[in-house]
Amino acid sequence: MNIERTLSIIKPDVTKKNQIGEIINVFEKRGLSIVGMKMIRLTPQLAETFYQEHNTKSFFKGMTEFMCSSPVVVICLKGENAIKLNREIMGATDPQEAKVGTIRRTYGESIDNANAVHGSDSPQAAEREIKLFFQEEEIFF
Ligand code: CDP
Ligand code: MG
Repeated sequence: MNIERTLSIIKPDVTKKNQIGEIINVFEKRGLSIVGMKMIRLTPQLAETFYQEHNTKSFFKGMTEFMCSSPVVVICLKGENAIKLNREIMGATDPQEAKVGTIRRTYGESIDNANAVHGSDSPQAAEREIKLFFQEEEIFF
């Protein structure tokens, strides 16, 4: 068994459309457990720190502004190979390229500012990202 934790963020496009529950339902149905969850409004500083690997990219400013434009739901997911499984459930970064049945294909609209969810892409990223949003005592099970 390789039980992992990973970080998901339900992005502003989904929270604005009243679809938070639908995304959570997908995670639980696919075998990921919610072990930490909070609704927050990102500050520009937190969004920029969170996405620091992209700070030289052309989309950085628009993307971080979008992430602050409405509340988001940050979720710590746990399960067998949770990091890879969550990336599979999410689908490709561009919703137009994401496979049918993935969250981004179903709920996303475009790569820039409407791709529904974030998911950690490696064990190192998962650890860093979970720590940015959760104290250890805010994670259960
Ligand atoms: O989110 P994911 O890990 O799949 O993709 P990423 O390459 O780490 O990019 C982070 C986020 O930046 C994406 O989810 C998009 O919201 C945004 N992005 C964008 O707006 N335009 C791009 N060409 C690439 C990414
Ligand atoms: Mg990424």
